[in-house]
Amino acid sequence: MSPDERLAAWFRAQGRDLPWRETRDPYAILVSEVMLQQTQVARVTPRYLEWLIRWPAVEDLAATSRADVIKAWQGLGYNRRAVNLHRAAQVIASSGWPDDLTELPGVGRYTADAISCFAFGRDVLPLDVNIGRVLERSAMRFGSGAAQALMDLGSTVCLARVPRCDACPLAESCPSRGLRYAPLRKQGPFEGSFRQRRAQALRAALAGEDPNDEEAVAALRRDGLLPS
Ligand code: ADE
Repeated sequence: MSPDERLAAWFRAQGRDLPWRETRDPYAILVSEVMLQQTQVARVTPRYLEWLIRWPAVEDLAATSRADVIKAWQGLGYNRRAVNLHRAAQVIASSGWPDDLTELPGVGRYTADAISCFAFGRDVLPLDVNIGRVLERSAMRFGSGAAQALMDLGSTVCLARVPRCDACPLAESCPSRGLRYAPLRKQGPFEGSFRQRRAQALRAALAGEDPNDEEAVAALRRDGLLPS
């Protein structure tokens, strides 16, 4: 069997039954992907089903009030996603689905590719962190038909830190088989923050180097720490 076939066989036996995998309705897929952007599958599943009972079609969602949409989003976090989903529904209800799905509010590259692949059957592989990790470790290539299987493999077997290579259908030909990955160092609140960038830019400027961070330099100038 080729890696593709082994992956497909594994997915048939071990893949998760998720309700958005039973539809090709682009609106339903949009709802699921926006919910899944920052919320876990187990929490999304019941909310996705309730959502589609309440607003079964994109026109239904478009016609409702923003307040009701935000209320229905409670507990999923990041209300801006709900506002964007509502605005996207209004765009679609009045003008149809755009060719370039990233024109829709709240739809970035990944979400656009997921809708293209799962709903419109286009040959694009949506690259989320799980799929990216499997591709990187396995150094294999897969077509768009493998997307759901790769997602499940990445979230249940090819785990970020301790991959379960013994359970992996790709292990036989995987160059990373058996490797372990160190946990990411715990970040303090300062690391990666804008304050840290400001401090780095200030150090560079004082050392006569190019800080190479316009935003940080502008903030330092505003605060009088660097000459304008
Ligand atoms: N996370 C984001 N999209 C997903 C999907 N379609 N299936 C499972 N997990 C996901």
